[in-house]
Amino acid sequence: MSTPSRKIFVTNALPYANGDIHLGHLVGYVQADIWVRFQRMLGNEVHYVCADDTHGAPVMLRAEKEGITPEELVSRVRGEHLRDFTDFGVAFDNYHSTHSPENRAYAEDIYKKLRAAGMIETRAIEQYYDPVKQMFLADRFIKGECPKCAAKDQYGDSCEVCGAAYAPTELKNPYSAVSGATPELRSSEHFFFRLSDPKAVEFLREWTRATNADGSRRMPPEASNKMREWLGEAGENKLSDWDISRDAPYFGFEIPDAPGKYFYVWLDAPIGYLASFKNYADRVGFDVADYIDPVKAEAAGTEMVHFIGKDILYFHALFWPAMLKFADYRTPNFLNVNGFLTVDGAKMSKSRGTFITARSYLEQKLNPEWLRYYYAAKLNSNIEDLDLSLDDFVAKVNSDLVGKFVNIASRSAGFISRRFGGKLGGSDAAALAPFMAEETIATLTRAFNDRDYSSALREIMRLADVANVYVNEEKPWELAKNPDNDPAVAERLHRACSTALNQFRALSIMLKPVLPTLVARVESFFDVAPFAWRDLAAPLPAGHAINQYAHLMTRVERKQIDALLEANKESLVTETKPVEAAKAAAPVVAAPAKAEEPTHISIDDFAKVDLRIARIVAAEHVEGAAKLIKLMLDIGEDKPRQVFAGIKSAYDPALLVGRLTVMVANLAPRKMKFGMSEGMVLAASDDKGEVPGLFILSPDSGAQPGMRVK
Ligand code: MSP
Ligand code: ZN
Repeated sequence: MSTPSRKIFVTNALPYANGDIHLGHLVGYVQADIWVRFQRMLGNEVHYVCADDTHGAPVMLRAEKEGITPEELVSRVRGEHLRDFTDFGVAFDNYHSTHSPENRAYAEDIYKKLRAAGMIETRAIEQYYDPVKQMFLADRFIKGECPKCAAKDQYGDSCEVCGAAYAPTELKNPYSAVSGATPELRSSEHFFFRLSDPKAVEFLREWTRATNADGSRRMPPEASNKMREWLGEAGENKLSDWDISRDAPYFGFEIPDAPGKYFYVWLDAPIGYLASFKNYADRVGFDVADYIDPVKAEAAGTEMVHFIGKDILYFHALFWPAMLKFADYRTPNFLNVNGFLTVDGAKMSKSRGTFITARSYLEQKLNPEWLRYYYAAKLNSNIEDLDLSLDDFVAKVNSDLVGKFVNIASRSAGFISRRFGGKLGGSDAAALAPFMAEETIATLTRAFNDRDYSSALREIMRLADVANVYVNEEKPWELAKNPDNDPAVAERLHRACSTALNQFRALSIMLKPVLPTLVARVESFFDVAPFAWRDLAAPLPAGHAINQYAHLMTRVERKQIDALLEANKESLVTETKPVEAAKAAAPVVAAPAKAEEPTHISIDDFAKVDLRIARIVAAEHVEGAAKLIKLMLDIGEDKPRQVFAGIKSAYDPALLVGRLTVMVANLAPRKMKFGMSEGMVLAASDDKGEVPGLFILSPDSGAQPGMRVK
């Protein structure tokens, strides 16, 4: 490929740490993941990061309800989110947290630079105070009517109906969502980012209009139209300053030189992109300056690309670029904006069971790649909402993936193994030509690159039809009869099956960004290195040995979907339970002796256990062990310890590498079937078996391998 490879820093919106990942979230994450995988197949260098968005009053209040600290809550939720994403094939290079030292450092740096640039101002404002709960109310805890469109029950920061952002005091008929009380106005000093400064307005006008060096747009046309609407005509100034501080009590970062004042969650949330990136770069060992310093980034030609949902455009298109600009950081190249998910044409609803969590989908044993495929088949580069029509989902997955795609291999692979010693023969060049046509590949390349996945998949399914027609015409099952053992017929069978498998291989390459797990199995079936996009240029040659074919994908049944809806109806009830249970459990935690009557141990007994912070430097499956993962743990000794941990059901080894955890370092070494186990890692599980899964421990960031835990 002659074009120089791109270096791209890609982010997804950071999910709030106070709720489960649901199928709505997954639209944007699947969209970005497909794009990242495609760019990598092209040979581009991509760094793909995300994090949990942890700060703000909701997390603080929820932790309070559960009787745990906000830190405990965010670390638990982070693990859940990461597991959901991983299980849906969304493969971030790093999944960090906005409650991290990196994020604090960047938030302070950006704030101080904005202050030095004269972009920060303080003034006393009247703000809503909940007289019952005795705290200033975060925007999300005040509800009322939207000042712009009068929609009822809108949050205090932005309207979900018309997209407007505003101050909570602008809401009509406000009420506290915490206590229901009518809030009182009280005065308090706040910090503002001066977005209304003519400099900022001018910059944003310019930024919206300009394109990237290669002429590409910075956002979809609907988004730039919105921007123009927000910015108004030249000479107009419609932007208001942005209130970036909140009063204690608040879970967040205290503002430098301003005791009792905290950064508003939306100030440090997008900064979390940089924090996650930095945390990752430090681990991997490269310099983030090439990506975030404006001069170095320009020189290095790196790009910064964000994927966000339409509801948070305002924050990403106005505040974020302006913050970066005036703090002397690089600004984004692309804002990819996805629409909202509807299910069967309506907003997701808990009572209908269509508010489907990612975890419940997996628990019902639905294949995550069915959903990836379905989303991809509906996604384009617009901000349109995307409808998950459940009957259509069943029909499309079964007809496209099982009926068309997988079918090609299942009808031809067996003959190669049984009749031809597992070796491919020559292929029909004419039958492969449509799959290798330059124009077709260029169209697909453009479609994936422009995030027009629906066009890409239509084209790929057209080719799958071509392959199926070929197989139907060649009829390998007829050729295989060959009653007279005619060598010419055998040769034709060999050629037909080899051609069909090469067609199938081409389709697999094209579908790899969408179906990474399935295609990884295709790669091992063909016994080839991971597919790259350029592999489309040539088929596998005669003589190439393949492995035994194992069935690749089952059909989805409507009854599985019905069970899923049912499960999510129930989760309406169970959803309130953890909180209730935690409250009820709180005294038990304080006095466990009564509940379970364990005998006490002395502090000296406890001190006998040598607990250490360990970094997982390697992790792999163990041949022949159903439950074990082999871990290599760095605890600051000369060489890492080998430990076999029974966590295979819950973790993908690849994901464990680089993580910190806690190990028992002085457990007597144990000889196992697979080798010595030199310690034990700590993991939590529910003895009652009500909460599935295993959860290994993680220390807060900052802990170093080898540190003693006591
Ligand atoms: N924490 C903020 C983002 C901060 S980014 C610096 C947030 N979190 S969220 O959990 O509410 O949403 C995370 C992402 O999922 C956002 O891009 C949001 O637009 C998207 N979606 C949330 N619900 C969605 C649907 N129902 N449909 C499609 N996307 C959805 O916003
Ligand atoms: Zn509105």
